Amino acid sequence: MSDTAKKPILFSGIQPSGHITLGNYIGALRNFTILESDYNCLFSIVDLHALTVRQDPAGLRRKTVELAALYIAAGLNPEESIIYCQSHVPQHAELAWILNCFTYMGELNRMTQFKDKAQKHKDNINAGLYTYPVLMAADILLYQTDLVPVGADQKQHLEITRDIAERVNAIHKGVFKVPEPYIPKQTAKIMSLTEPERKMSKSDPEDSFIALTDTPETISRKFRRAVTDSDGEIRYDPENKPGVSNLLSILSTLSGEDMDSLTARLSGQGYGKLKDETAQATIETLKPIQERFHQLMADKDYLAKVLTDNAERARYLANKTLRKVYKKLGLYQP
Ligand code: AMP
Ligand code: TRP
Repeated sequence: MSDTAKKPILFSGIQPSGHITLGNYIGALRNFTILESDYNCLFSIVDLHALTVRQDPAGLRRKTVELAALYIAAGLNPEESIIYCQSHVPQHAELAWILNCFTYMGELNRMTQFKDKAQKHKDNINAGLYTYPVLMAADILLYQTDLVPVGADQKQHLEITRDIAERVNAIHKGVFKVPEPYIPKQTAKIMSLTEPERKMSKSDPEDSFIALTDTPETISRKFRRAVTDSDGEIRYDPENKPGVSNLLSILSTLSGEDMDSLTARLSGQGYGKLKDETAQATIETLKPIQERFHQLMADKDYLAKVLTDNAERARYLANKTLRKVYKKLGLYQP
């Protein structure tokens, strides 16, 4: 990033848990690749966040490496962008502690993701799940981030990040950059294939999502079985036709055909055709990513080196902000 010092800073992260889905790709990863060249970017594998629900240790290690491979396979450049593991940069946890002291329980009580996850994991409503947004705020603020591309489900977490940054800045002038979210409308929320009123989620049953590593046969089968509706009309109307509108969003985004011409072209045709075209567009998009992914996974030494070198670059930047915070807050720094 040395010769590109003037570009604004972009930060985002994905958890190395479950399967990385088409929702993650369209809502996040794909936008990372589109924005990459205009920003100095950090793309984190947020493994500390993944610990808020129980993980199998071997599985977590494998998924961490797989996510690094997927970032690169999707087109991100680890020589330019900093692709790294959150746990390799201890400053995230250190800043999270400080920000905990600037976050109100009343704010955290309002977080819908906490309420959902607490509902799902009733036997393990741990304090980490509760303070998850504070660690996320630390991730972002640690790098004086300008822009954070995420899906719509993270909007509330971006708002609390901004509130925390502004609160700290009001007391200690100029500590943090206040970041902007980047949540393009059409791709903000890809829905489940089996329950199109809910977002596609990596922790739901297999048939409800497309994993980025699914075979072409599996992709075709899942789309063929996708829940639609019974009126037979191809029209973009997320409110009344969530299943059909979801397929249209996916197809339009991946094929590049704009929504109006797409619906005009398919209008009067059966849902079978829409499902088939959506499956084909997905298969074609994922094919080169999967090829590159398998090549990368065959070279674990390369991936380890990328993560090691990039963690070093991240620690350097993170340390600058953390020192500034400690100093401004009055922690004695001889
Ligand atoms: P996560 O899987 O929770 O770590 O999410 C990683 C990124 O993918 C975040 O920016 C999410 O907002 C985004 N994302 C996850 N699921 C979806 C979805 N169904 N539609 C759009 N974006 C999503
Ligand atoms: N909470 C995000 C999610 O589950 C992942 C995440 C953690 C993140 N830290 C972040 C996203 C910082 C953007 C910026 O989707």
